[in-house]
Amino acid sequence: MRDQFPIFRTNPGLVYLDSAASALRPQAVIDKEIEFYSHYSANIHRGVYQISERATEEYEKAREQVANFIGAGHSCEVIFVRNATEAINLVAYSWGRSFVSTGDEIALTVSEHHANLVPWQQLAQEVGANLRYLDVDDEGNLPISHKDLQLWVNKKTKIVVVSHASNVTGVINDVQSIVSLVKKINPKVKVLVDGAQAAPRMPVSMKEIGCDFYAMTGHKMYGPSGIGILWAKEEILESMPPFEVGGGMIREVKLEGTTFAPIPEKFEAGTPNIAGAIGLGESVRFLLQTGMKNVRKHEVELNDYALTKLNSVKNLRLIGPKDPQKKTAIYAFTLAGIHPHDLAQVLSMENIAVRAGHHCAMPLHTRLGITATTRASCGIYTTKSDIDKLIDGIEVARRKLN
Ligand code: ALA
Repeated sequence: MRDQFPIFRTNPGLVYLDSAASALRPQAVIDKEIEFYSHYSANIHRGVYQISERATEEYEKAREQVANFIGAGHSCEVIFVRNATEAINLVAYSWGRSFVSTGDEIALTVSEHHANLVPWQQLAQEVGANLRYLDVDDEGNLPISHKDLQLWVNKKTKIVVVSHASNVTGVINDVQSIVSLVKKINPKVKVLVDGAQAAPRMPVSMKEIGCDFYAMTGHKMYGPSGIGILWAKEEILESMPPFEVGGGMIREVKLEGTTFAPIPEKFEAGTPNIAGAIGLGESVRFLLQTGMKNVRKHEVELNDYALTKLNSVKNLRLIGPKDPQKKTAIYAFTLAGIHPHDLAQVLSMENIAVRAGHHCAMPLHTRLGITATTRASCGIYTTKSDIDKLIDGIEVARRKLN
């Protein structure tokens, strides 16, 4: 697996433990982008000449690959956007401004990444809706009994937004049960799942989850940056006004007014990130070839190893579930007496890449009584030896900083 990632050759000795921020890219994805730029780098949906037709074909093939990867009903439900943040903003602006009004409720959780929190705060403020937060326990798990959810969702709730996996605790939320339970409480409620951290790490099926919207981002899925996906049910996308307007998303424009193209084009105004989408198609092919069950199995094996190792480090507080089955291979922790940024800096001197800070989840850190953590996050190329080097690096930091 590591041989397929050229960055390990160009950066010998690199211990990359920041895949939750951005995953590394396999040669196949890099080659696919080069193929586009070298062989058919024309615009899509416009030219009648061969290289434009090839670009269109490859772009639409990528849409099909993504639809297949997530078990979507139809590829027209797959909208190419810039990232998961844009996918969620698209829903909050287009669907939110049309269907949420004064006195309605938006149900969200304290463990959301800011990308799945701030757009809803803005919407609520603008239309006069109320936010209702579901709290987590001390491990970061959501309480999801029918009774708990009845206190969260009611007849006024218009949308429930929840992450599939936390970018801090690694908690995997049982989104399938959440969707089914909240729809029993209020059959009209829509559910948006932020899948940015889950889609690269486990099998994901829109049919099984039963949600209405699902957001993902390419750069965490071993694909290019600047490309993401919004998946939504066809009839919901049909009911929504465009998010951005301009070229590429119209049916007919007259000076008096405009009619819009059908989905997915209605939501893809302007020239899109063609190379990015084609590269993402390749990363999805790469993941499917690896097998998402194998990807998940590898994560659980890493959890088994890393949780034991990290828990034996003196004065280290590991955030998140103790059960390796309940989380992704993401380990956020604090080390008594050492600031997370200082620790990350010393680790960097040892050629170990981790992230430190609040990881765009300030309310979750506040809830857990901390301001910042150091986070090591794995990818499909991570080995147990990377975890050993992290543990050694932590001891180096302790010696240097204490
Ligand atoms: N959302 C990304 C992270 O958690 C950037 O690091």
